[in-house]
Amino acid sequence: MPGGRAAAALLAEAHAILGRSVAPHSRFRVAAVLEDADGALHPGVNVESASFSLSICAERNALFGALARAAAAPRRLAIVSATLRPVLPCGACRQVLLEHAPDLLLLVERPDGSPEEIPLRDLLPRPFREFEPGP
Ligand code: THU
Repeated sequence: MPGGRAAAALLAEAHAILGRSVAPHSRFRVAAVLEDADGALHPGVNVESASFSLSICAERNALFGALARAAAAPRRLAIVSATLRPVLPCGACRQVLLEHAPDLLLLVERPDGSPEEIPLRDLLPRPFREFEPGP
């Protein structure tokens, strides 16, 4: 496999950590695995709070873990759930991911389970990027 692990293998890594999702409120488990440019993997799951709005998505958890480890540049992010295909990142995650990884490729499952690669850029056209501080 030129260029690293197969798409199906990366999705399988995400399925393998779905049980770590903490989703007692929605019961919608999501797992994401970020692959960096060195081929290292950074796991994330959604973690919910009793104060619902404090919950965090699997995608941001994977990204933040990679940043905390000073990982090499993000390359691909596999996203899965047990009950929905595909899982595409919410708007908040699209924004945060794009700020840190504009060239990121999302790896999701089609309804038949086959892998689909989607450039993150395609999901967030004309993003907000930076601001100029006022005086
Ligand atoms: N969630 C994710 O982790 N990723 C997504 O792409 C969509 C939503 C989580 C947040 C919450 O814990 C649950 O799924 C229901 O919205």
